[in-house]
Amino acid sequence: MSSELSVKHLLGIKYLKKEDIELIFKTADHFKEVINRPIKKVPSLRDITIANLFFENSTRTRLSFELAEKRLSADVINFSAASSSVKKGETLIDTVNNILSMKVDMVVMRHPNPGAGIFLSKHVNASIVNAGDGAHEHPTQALLDSYSIRERLGEVAGKKVVIVGDILHSRVALSNIFALKLQGAEVKVCGPKTLIPKHIESLGVGVETNLKAALEWCDVANMLRVQNERMDISYFPSTREYVKQFGLNLPLLESLKKEIVIMHPGPINRGVEITSDVADSDHAIILDQVQNGVAVRMAVIYLLAAKIQQ
Ligand code: CP
Repeated sequence: MSSELSVKHLLGIKYLKKEDIELIFKTADHFKEVINRPIKKVPSLRDITIANLFFENSTRTRLSFELAEKRLSADVINFSAASSSVKKGETLIDTVNNILSMKVDMVVMRHPNPGAGIFLSKHVNASIVNAGDGAHEHPTQALLDSYSIRERLGEVAGKKVVIVGDILHSRVALSNIFALKLQGAEVKVCGPKTLIPKHIESLGVGVETNLKAALEWCDVANMLRVQNERMDISYFPSTREYVKQFGLNLPLLESLKKEIVIMHPGPINRGVEITSDVADSDHAIILDQVQNGVAVRMAVIYLLAAKIQQ
């Protein structure tokens, strides 16, 4: 296994090799052990400064990156667009160049525009980590999702994973499809036809519009949130109709002839894509996903920082 990543930035899973994912997971295994020690911090990145730039709301990703950076002893600065000079009309490049002039080495950015991280990587001299760019990619979410499947089921290769819900607007779906396929999993998507992109099969995934059939097929179901904030028209008749056809509840789960693993990237619309009795049950690994996010992000930052220092 290579000891370094093939990329200088983490812009999307699309740009990674299978060996990169294996290296990130092996490194995350080490950091997971570190963060379970009484002293949870290592001095690895004492000379690195990281800016977390969030132009869109976040709870899990922002806190997880910040904690990962602090556990690695990096210097951390946080920027939230809502309270910044972006509100006075400053451009993305000007904002980032001003921050970089303070000698920042790495930028973790969430932005509503697809490709914002790719654009930035071509114009600034820092390592860029995409923390979610519009409906494009959310690479660290897909990495922590696969890491959590590997932890629960032993490996990702050969596993059957169904991604359920709003595939059309989901960066989590696209990054998961790339990551799972790269590792040799079988993938299906399931949801209302209006929320499934037309040419999704070209990515090597199957389409199932019957939730029960999809659940009978899979080992893992990743239940996505309906992203109302990205919808300017109605994609299904009503929330009640959506819940009836695509909501996961305990009676449905218990009617299956086998045990499956339930995932959700958060935030959850409780009672819509998943009921509380499923989300809070032993079938679900939702909080394991969040916990693994810190170790996986430590691994990503540590391995990218090694590329800066070369
Ligand atoms: N899963 C995820 O990206 O959650 P946040 O939007 O809270 O960061």
